Amino acid sequence: MSIDYTSSIPNNVDLAGDRTLQRALEHWQPRFLNWWDDMGPDGSSTRDVYLRTAVSVEPSGWAHFDHVRMRDYRWGIFLAPQEAERQVNFGDHLGEPAWQEVPGEYRSTLRRIIVTQGDTEPASVEQQRHLGATAPSLYDLRNLYQVNVEEGRHLWAMVYLLHRHFGRDGREEAEALLERRSGDADNPRILGAFNEPTPDWLSFFMFTFCTDRDGKFQLCALAESGFDPLARTARFMLTEEAHHMFIGESGIGRILLRTAEVMRTHATDDPATLRRLGVIDLPTVQRYLNFHMSVTLDLFGSDLSSNAATFYSCGIKGRFAETRIEDDHRLRDATYPVLQIVDGALVPTQAPCLNALNEQLRDDYLKDTHGGVGRWNKLLERAGVDFRLSLPHKAFNRKIGPLAGVRVSPSGQVLSEAQWQVGVADWLPREEDRSFVRTLMGAVTEPGHYANWIASPKAGINQMPADFAYVRLD
Ligand SMILES: [Fe+2]
Ligand SMILES: [Fe+2]
Repeated sequence: MSIDYTSSIPNNVDLAGDRTLQRALEHWQPRFLNWWDDMGPDGSSTRDVYLRTAVSVEPSGWAHFDHVRMRDYRWGIFLAPQEAERQVNFGDHLGEPAWQEVPGEYRSTLRRIIVTQGDTEPASVEQQRHLGATAPSLYDLRNLYQVNVEEGRHLWAMVYLLHRHFGRDGREEAEALLERRSGDADNPRILGAFNEPTPDWLSFFMFTFCTDRDGKFQLCALAESGFDPLARTARFMLTEEAHHMFIGESGIGRILLRTAEVMRTHATDDPATLRRLGVIDLPTVQRYLNFHMSVTLDLFGSDLSSNAATFYSCGIKGRFAETRIEDDHRLRDATYPVLQIVDGALVPTQAPCLNALNEQLRDDYLKDTHGGVGRWNKLLERAGVDFRLSLPHKAFNRKIGPLAGVRVSPSGQVLSEAQWQVGVADWLPREEDRSFVRTLMGAVTEPGHYANWIASPKAGINQMPADFAYVRLD
């Protein structure tokens, strides 16, 4: 089989001149397409979708818009431009030139990190594969598909690193990325949140708001890596991640606006009445937020982690905005507060900073998430509604780390099991919430029209007019 590499795989890694890489991709690409056919967006194969394709890393080239079939999407391989004389900016190798090839002693650690990141990309496509059947508008359908093809491209980005830098075991890992399945009992995806179903659009918007933002923070930490190809790959992926979070934040924002409008018109905040009027009551939005936040906070890993210390000391994974932090960037004597249970209360306790790096990244993530929730509350305020959303406490509903063993309310109060059982129906989505949200789901396919439970967006994608056909259905 021959592939015209320059046009079918846009890239800035000299694919045309790298025979070994070409051979590896020749083998992998048909398998990727098989995976896409089996596990990619259901029912999408005959649709033309108004998608953004990255064709180069220059500002003019990474957002090229056109109607395309997703299967023909040009999944490209891009690294952010190389910085001259970049150094390792933290850990034991601080000040040494950044590595262009994998250091032998860190090979398996680096491979593991790349595989773990890579695994999340196809996982989210699998989680979202049925949502196309119930999109609240063509605009939203297009946004879902955009996320899906870009997660596919992120998989390509990680597979490029595996093929280019890890020889045979890299090729085997690249195949395994296409074999695991989200939610599969025998061969699940690596991380917990990526095995949870994304059954409805409220979940989808919460996922892109909460979990794609975890992606942002993991990528930011990898963008600091001393292994330069990984740093440059992560930096380019971040340009796409921003759009995914926009879809989540604006999606929830539009749900809030629509519900607020109906609350005002009918002068009610009664959830049952609002549900009869076909909009999502705000306590249900809060319970979904609680769920997605707690699942996502677990993705950062255990509060104290010797792996995190190793990744940092080796120069493989830095902190968020590492080079903007003013300290010694070695952290051997530094401390950082983590939560511990002391006499039945959560108490911040100083721990070795190197071991607490997961916790620090989680805190940076929380700060960013707070900003988004604040913007939602501004919308509610301006809409004249008293209800405010809030982030659950970071110890709420945790399944990983020392906090997994304690019951904590969304406001941060340590509870007995009995108290938890009383409160949990107010804090996490109930079966009836999920089934109600399911009743709202139904495809709206006329350009410029939106489901009753969501407001129209403020502006179109790429400044397209309100009645633009973002997706041409068969
Ligand atoms: Fe991604
Ligand atoms: Fe993403």
